[in-house]
This record gives sequence, C-alpha cells and structure tokens, in this order.
Amino acid sequence: MLTVAVLISGTGSNLRALLDAAADPEFPARVVVVGADREADGFAHAEEYGIPTFMVPFAQFASREEWGTELGAQLDVWRPDLVVLSGLMRLLPADLVDAWSPRIINTHPAYLPEFPGAHGVRDALAADVAQTGASVIIVDNGVDSGPILAQERVPVLPGDDEHALHERIKPVERRLLIDVVRRVATGDLDLAAVSASAQL
Ligand code: GAR
Repeated sequence: MLTVAVLISGTGSNLRALLDAAADPEFPARVVVVGADREADGFAHAEEYGIPTFMVPFAQFASREEWGTELGAQLDVWRPDLVVLSGLMRLLPADLVDAWSPRIINTHPAYLPEFPGAHGVRDALAADVAQTGASVIIVDNGVDSGPILAQERVPVLPGDDEHALHERIKPVERRLLIDVVRRVATGDLDLAAVSASAQL
C-alpha cells in the first residue's frame, strides 16, 4: 500500500477526490496526512475521513528556507512514499525538493509547459487560446517545469471566465491525479525512471 501525504493551500477539491478514491479498499494508496501552509478549507475533507493534518504557516517564518525546513520535518514524521502538491500555492525551497524528488508530484491547471505558475487558468484566458488543459508533473526546482506524468486538453469555451474554466479543468485534474497515484502505487509508473530519463 502506497502512503501519500497531500499538501494544500485552499479548498482541497482535488484532495477530496483522492480521499474518495482511496476509500475504496481496492485502491492501492492511502492518504496518511494532509498539510497546508495556512488554515486551508480543505482540512475539513481530511477531518471527515479522520486523517491527521498539520499546518506550517508560511507567514510565521523569516524565510522560505526556514519554512521549508519545518515542512520537511513534518513530512519526516509521516515518511510517506509519495508527496502530492494539490493546490499548494507556494514554491518549495530547493533543499526540500531535492530531499523528496522524484517522489513529489504536483497538479497544475494548464497543459504544461504552457501557462506555468500561480495563474495558469487566468493566463490561458488572457492568451485567448482555444484550448488549455491539466497536467500532473514531478516537482523539480523550476516553476512547474518538472517531467510530465499525465496531461489532457480542455477546451476554452466562449464566455468562459476564470472560475468557469477552472471548474471544467478540475475534474480532469482529479482524474489524472488519481490515475497517476494508482499507477505509482502499482509500479506501473516508475517515478525514478521518468526522472532519470528527463535528465538525459
Ligand atoms: C488546482 O486546480 C491546482 O491544480 C491548482 O490549484 C487548484 C487547487 O484546487 N494549483 C496550481 O495552480 C499550482 N500552480 P483545490 O484546492 O480545489 O484542489
């Protein structure tokens, strides 16, 4: 059974989908802890499932590095097989990424490498593209620049605003995330091999 820590900042709808999937005894992974950089609404999903939570408030640390050290210490308590960034809206310091990579993945609401960063949906709308997408990647030390594990296109429809488009992307993200976690758990997807081949 693959153990997973999920890090969030917001509503945690992707976390919720992963928790729902993992509630199936046939699903080969379990969420063992949920962490956040702030008092995130998504904690409620973890609490509903009786899953422990921890918060490392970014605002209370003098630097990103000090925050990352404490976040890493919390993760070390749980020693998950995989860390999932599911809407964590903070860049992790390099030390923490290096400690966990390639066992740390991120979901993103765009078809990377298009529209990386904190405003993937807004940026796609501003660029007036006909389609955007959703991606799941291995986290590296760039901004949404790690090896792509899964991605799918989502059309931009006339009249879409940021909220409407994001709400249409999220179900695709959820499906991709659950599938990636399942494939990592079954050994179908070898993160170390993907990471190594990306560095060739
Ligand atoms: C998701 O769309 C996730 O991909 C995005 O935040 C949303 C969180 O939603 N993350 C990023 O944009 C990171 N660059 P949720 O809290 O409802 O799961």
